[in-house]
Amino acid sequence: MIEYKVALIGFGGVNRALVQLAAENNAGWLRELGFQLKFVGVSDLYLGSAICPRGLDLNDLCALPSVKGALENLPGGKALPETEEVIQHSGADIVAEATFTNPVDGEPASSYCWNALNKGISVVTTNKGPVAFNADALTHAAELKGVFFEFEGSVMSGTPAIRLARESLAGSDLVGFEGILNGTSNLVISSMEMGLSFEEAVEKAQRLGYAEADPTADIEGHDVRLKVTILANQLLGAKLKPRDVTCKGISGLTVQAVQDAVASNARWKLIGSASKAPDGTVCASVEPKLLPIENSLASVAGAINAVTFKTRVLGDVTVRGPGAGRTETAYALLSDIVSIHRKKSAVEASK
Ligand code: HSE
Repeated sequence: MIEYKVALIGFGGVNRALVQLAAENNAGWLRELGFQLKFVGVSDLYLGSAICPRGLDLNDLCALPSVKGALENLPGGKALPETEEVIQHSGADIVAEATFTNPVDGEPASSYCWNALNKGISVVTTNKGPVAFNADALTHAAELKGVFFEFEGSVMSGTPAIRLARESLAGSDLVGFEGILNGTSNLVISSMEMGLSFEEAVEKAQRLGYAEADPTADIEGHDVRLKVTILANQLLGAKLKPRDVTCKGISGLTVQAVQDAVASNARWKLIGSASKAPDGTVCASVEPKLLPIENSLASVAGAINAVTFKTRVLGDVTVRGPGAGRTETAYALLSDIVSIHRKKSAVEASK
């Protein structure tokens, strides 16, 4: 029986949801996917840390109260976060990194990923910071150690975008993409179409749990800029830093403008896009665009995300689905672990 030992870095909604998924589905995963998960360590800035190489009880983890230092009450628990201890000494095969995104330099998450990979531990992350700023270096570090750095959840949560383009669209000659990559801003525009003011629409997105605590990153396009950087670098071979992506958000859109668009069979959308010129140069931007209703992104309403991949062989290919949410993002971590499992199994089979 294959049982991956996972260390959880950050125990907010996403890693909690991963534990919940494992509690509900481990037996089914073993049958369907060929492995199950056990959690050997956890560290969280607020909740503290715990190391338990035989595996923490899934019900205890699921029921952990959101109280400062709560992890102290689990076996091997401490009231303080000991992230490096957990990475170095829990005996994990895989680190699931789901801490906050730092849009300035990706730290400290990048260092957590780096330290795990250098110890020969694979990393799965939903964090845009390490991927937008350091994906190449982290992937190289993983290759040197024969482990894996996977980050499907950094864009569009569990909806396949990165792996879909890399694997299923391999050979399709991808030359660009355009997408709705932030659920909050899309929900805000949809709500304004229905008559809410900008402020009421932002409040609604916060109430529904889509917006960041400070929604500026959602509204001003900074969140999309990180995602565009990730997609452009990973799929188009660009070497962009987030500051290379021109960025304009939706705070200048008025209710009148979005309603006028609807009346003329068009929709305003916050679009993140990039395109590759024949010489390989990649240009990327984030900006509100007025789309005719025939555009497949125009009908994407509410908190849903979508991306259209521009390929020379197939033409446009669009995928749409959730772009945020705890379980939806935790599913991306599972999909990363499935990918690691399949790559490891292929290596084993070739020996
Ligand atoms: N606040 C983000 C959104 C969450 O609204 O899409 C996912 O990055």
